[in-house]
Amino acid sequence: MTIDAEWLAGRWEAVSSSPVQQSSANDGQRFQALLQQGRFEEAREIITSGSMEPTVAAKALSAAVHTSLGRIALLNNRESQAQSHFQTSIETLAPAWVTDNTVDMRVQEQLRQLDLPPRVPGTPYEESQRREWVGEAWLEAARGTFPKSTEILIALAEGSFLRKNYDEAIRHWQQLSAVMQGAMPQEFYNRLDKAYQAQGSFPSGTPDEEQLRGSMDKHKFLEAMHRDLDPDLYLEIGVQSGVSFRLARCQAIGVDPMPYPSLGLSKNHTLLQMTSDTFFDEEAEVWLVNSPDLVFIDGMHLFEFALRDFINVEKFSSKNTIVIMDDIFPGHPAQAERDRRTRAWTGDVWRLAHALREFRPDLQLDTLDVSPTGLLVIRNLDPDNVLLSQRYETIVEATLKTDLDLERYVERSNSIDPHKWLSESRLKM
Ligand SMILES: C[S@@+](CC[C@H](N)C(=O)[O-])C[C@H]1O[C@@H](n2cnc3c(N)ncnc32)[C@H](O)[C@@H]1O
Repeated sequence: MTIDAEWLAGRWEAVSSSPVQQSSANDGQRFQALLQQGRFEEAREIITSGSMEPTVAAKALSAAVHTSLGRIALLNNRESQAQSHFQTSIETLAPAWVTDNTVDMRVQEQLRQLDLPPRVPGTPYEESQRREWVGEAWLEAARGTFPKSTEILIALAEGSFLRKNYDEAIRHWQQLSAVMQGAMPQEFYNRLDKAYQAQGSFPSGTPDEEQLRGSMDKHKFLEAMHRDLDPDLYLEIGVQSGVSFRLARCQAIGVDPMPYPSLGLSKNHTLLQMTSDTFFDEEAEVWLVNSPDLVFIDGMHLFEFALRDFINVEKFSSKNTIVIMDDIFPGHPAQAERDRRTRAWTGDVWRLAHALREFRPDLQLDTLDVSPTGLLVIRNLDPDNVLLSQRYETIVEATLKTDLDLERYVERSNSIDPHKWLSESRLKM
């Protein structure tokens, strides 16, 4: 292949290693090729030796800048912009060679060098289609390399939203929350909320994967708890549409970064729109001067969030506080996946029962066969016990490795009938 053809495509190594010819156009091409490869010292020597006309050097520099801008445009799925930069780049050094074919040659070669999929020859270019397969492929590949990059997850979430792929957007925002944990800001929850609203209901898995069971509805159980325990102060993490929150007749504090609008609450209810982590960092001292008597934790369905919620709740509890944790029994292993893909989603909250049994044998733990996804009742709390917060990182690491018990949780081994539990637990005042 001639140096001209190599230069048109933009195969810079081949251009810079081709034998020197006595043509000022080839000088410019070789000079540009050095710049594109970052070989600036060699480029500088050519200038200082005076072996190249300054106007050719200036044109080659401009051609190099336009080629680089074209490559950046390709990475950002702006193919028309890339084409126009490549055209200007070719025009600057060799105006007579600009045709659709030569520009396309450069586009194809630069896509190849950037590991992006080629354009199918003869296929009309469609901006939206290209945005999907170039952008997503590139970002997904980058995510494989940097799984904890918040920027990549945000780009994937926003990209999915733009393409109206809302369940995908939800999944990416949730993945971001798993990376950012308690530091995930309210703005991102607002975006997650937008995706939830646009999605309507989350797509179902197979009927098998959506299986639910239990001998008493969780809201019926909570209603019985309010009646029997008659709490003075109730705290709820994860309010959503307020079905469980409205059951409280006493002073009640609800925390949720994405509550539904107009929940029909009464004067005794205070709803704080924020994450539970922010609540405990900034507000709990004000609202929990007295210990809550009953707490329902039903927030983010990831083990670390459930663990932090329990640790924080216990700090503000008394020995008599009763904590109820939702989603302890996934109906199917698919519901327990950390990346949501089923409508019924418990995430891996089930790991909390496992971790508390192992690290806090002093707590009284009862797992109840409640529908749809079980409840864990935690009693005998000790606000002075700092073991969980001191060993938080170790506990998370050790517990996330544990997959052994999931089947037992799906099968609800050792679960207690909630009717029996209510009649035997003597909560009535
Ligand atoms: C399953 S819904 C709660 C349902 C409600 N407790 C009921 O039974 O009627 C879970 C809620 O947790 C909220 N949530 C998600 N992340 C949270 C966080 N970090 N802190 C507090 N709540 C969170 C969601 O916005 C959602 O509304």
